[in-house]
Amino acid sequence: MECSYINMYFYSPKGTKNANRIVKMENLTKAYHIPVLLNESMEGLDVHPSGVYVDVTFGGGGHSRAILERLGDEGRLYGFDQDADTELYIPNDSRFVFVRSNFRFLYNFMRYHKVAGKVDGLLADLGVSSHHFDEQERGFSFRFDGQLDMRMNTRSERTAAGVLNTYTEEALADMLYLYGELKQARPLASLLVRTRERKKLETIADLLEAVSPYTGKDKEKKFLAQLFQSLRIEVNDEMRALKEMLSQTLLTLKPGGRLVVITYHSLEDRLVKNFLKTGNFEGKTEQDFYGNIQTPFRLINHKVITPSDEEVARNPRSRSAKLRIAEVIKTT
Ligand SMILES: C[S@@+](CC[C@H](N)C(=O)[O-])C[C@H]1O[C@@H](n2cnc3c(N)ncnc32)[C@H](O)[C@@H]1O
Repeated sequence: MECSYINMYFYSPKGTKNANRIVKMENLTKAYHIPVLLNESMEGLDVHPSGVYVDVTFGGGGHSRAILERLGDEGRLYGFDQDADTELYIPNDSRFVFVRSNFRFLYNFMRYHKVAGKVDGLLADLGVSSHHFDEQERGFSFRFDGQLDMRMNTRSERTAAGVLNTYTEEALADMLYLYGELKQARPLASLLVRTRERKKLETIADLLEAVSPYTGKDKEKKFLAQLFQSLRIEVNDEMRALKEMLSQTLLTLKPGGRLVVITYHSLEDRLVKNFLKTGNFEGKTEQDFYGNIQTPFRLINHKVITPSDEEVARNPRSRSAKLRIAEVIKTT
């Protein structure tokens, strides 16, 4: 596994916990992102006051703050995020360590901090935050015009414009089909290639104009959501990062440690579901010599947990969320 130390950033201010700061954070977080399935995920993590926890998707810090509220003075929380904008929300709390990195480097950082194999619980609230969709210049939303960017980590090189203007037609079709589940992937890829031969695709308006033959009125929103999702997943290499992070949870968590994952679309949910059930991404069950099923996890919820109607009404962006929880029964 490679590890980029360029993106390494730690924040662990001296001084003890800071109740005032936590209250102020409440207001900041509301503007950035409303935490999804908060109570359900905290129950799943089952926070012990002196435990070690990891929030691999810190975002606006909503879930991290809830973990800190449950931790005692001896407890510790590591929060990962690859987006520099989240640094504004780092709590001024000596129990918290911020890691400005992609979570695909989870194990190396845990080893660096001497907690690999000692972690009591890890939370992953996958995907992008409301902040990404609401900030015009980040280029994640088809509601605004702007540069075709879509990078969560603005230091990385690959942008949505880069993907659209340099990928082969075949690679574009694969991306649209695999990550956007778009049935029209092939003709759409061909249209994009023909369009960019005349003029590079630089802005969201350029892209919307290029795909206008596909945006019939009634299905427009669904089609664009799938198109933008496929680009975003590709730009941020989301599926590979997720697989790498999940694989490292077995070296990071201790036996009995909890893995709590919130997904937002079927591709990531399938991976998580298979991994928690079987310890591999294909969902293949392995048996020992005596026919006993070998799996590194014990499922805590057999039925997936979804937001209540009340939560969806309060926060419509939670509507596709799915929560899965498992406990490590052995480490590799
Ligand atoms: C859904 S938001 C998390 C919101 C957070 N739970 C809260 O309550 O505010 C996902 C966050 O994870 C970050 N993220 C997504 N994929 C990542 C990855 N591979 N490595 C590090 N951070 C990632 C995004 O930048 C975003 O801030």
